[in-house]
Amino acid sequence: MKRFCPHSMAPYRLALLPGDGTGREVMEEVKRILSTFKESGAISLETTEIPCGGQHYLDTGEEWPSGSFEYCRDESDAIVVGAVGWPGAILPNGDIAGGQALLGLRSALDLYANVRPVKLYKGVKHKVHGSFMDVWDNELVDIVMVRENTEGLYHALLRRSGMAARGEERDEALVIDEFPGLEGEVGWDVRPISRKGSERVIRYSFELAKRRESRLGSVQKVTCVDKSNVTRGCRLFRDVFQEISSEYQGIITNEAFIDAFTMWLVRSPEDLDVVVLPNMFGDIATDLASVLQGGMGMAASANIGDEHMLFEPVHGSSPKYAGKNKVNPIAAISSVQLMFDSLGSKNDDKEATLCAEVIERAISEHMSSGSPVTYDLGGKASTTEVGESIASRCKAILTELGS
Ligand code: IPM
Ligand code: MN
Repeated sequence: MKRFCPHSMAPYRLALLPGDGTGREVMEEVKRILSTFKESGAISLETTEIPCGGQHYLDTGEEWPSGSFEYCRDESDAIVVGAVGWPGAILPNGDIAGGQALLGLRSALDLYANVRPVKLYKGVKHKVHGSFMDVWDNELVDIVMVRENTEGLYHALLRRSGMAARGEERDEALVIDEFPGLEGEVGWDVRPISRKGSERVIRYSFELAKRRESRLGSVQKVTCVDKSNVTRGCRLFRDVFQEISSEYQGIITNEAFIDAFTMWLVRSPEDLDVVVLPNMFGDIATDLASVLQGGMGMAASANIGDEHMLFEPVHGSSPKYAGKNKVNPIAAISSVQLMFDSLGSKNDDKEATLCAEVIERAISEHMSSGSPVTYDLGGKASTTEVGESIASRCKAILTELGS
């Protein structure tokens, strides 16, 4: 790790969207980590907190204050979301209330790659069945799943949420009253997959594999996961995958159908490096994959576009645990790590990259030294205790590097 010198660039402007339930609790730990870095002088940050989500909708009748979308689009370098969604918080048209703050941003900011690392830190016990196990070599699980984030089965909802975020009226786009061969009421969704949408996320995945190759020093494989034996959208997705793979000669490729993939993921995660999937398959497979890294409390994500970036823990608002100071803040803290890493590579900013390395080392040391963990990892610690412990490790590492 390199030594750091005080940050000299203009401050990064961060929009913080705590959202609902435990999203609000983990956001407190995000803020604690950000303050630690800011106060140490390692990086210069300005944060703006924006209320949003289903609970905010129930309280105020709006998903977030007007101007929030423009703030995220025009005035921020990165966005961090806690969690969005709350029981009973539904818009009149049936869509998730608060969705503008997540689905709306994914759509309206064109955040086409939802990047979800699945990494098992040393010392983390995972619970694949029944009890906590630590029998695996942690090097076996080091995967990055890349979920297409703007189309597929989410297309219509994303489009409606994006329109609402931009202040346009949501339209239903397609109305079909009858389905040949079906009678009576039909609930239905279209699943468009475009060449352009596939190309950009697949290319992103190959570029990511290249970066991992130079960082890890090991040959990387990109696996395309789809259901191209059944759906046309997936056939296009796989065709595009094959075309693009021919441009990346050094990288190994593999192809899998989603059904068999779910089995391989659990059985042989060591065979996977970068995995690219259409939207809904990526949503489902990343929740499953999180079990291999200790559960949803460890799963972080980055939503990346050409112009904008948004970071969020993969877990939701967990109403059952909300207000109890119980959930694991590491997924949210790891999302901050992804944010610093992305800001670092986007701006060629070594300080931001160093902040990412410091967080990764702090989490890694926290876990390998047997420090207190939350219930999901078999411990009894609170959200705050884990957050404080990781923040003070970050502080100690920064002091060590600066001295
Ligand atoms: C996720 C979540 C969202 C999704 C929900 C909250 C709409 O499950 O980020 O994975 O389905 O994309
Ligand atoms: Mn999900």
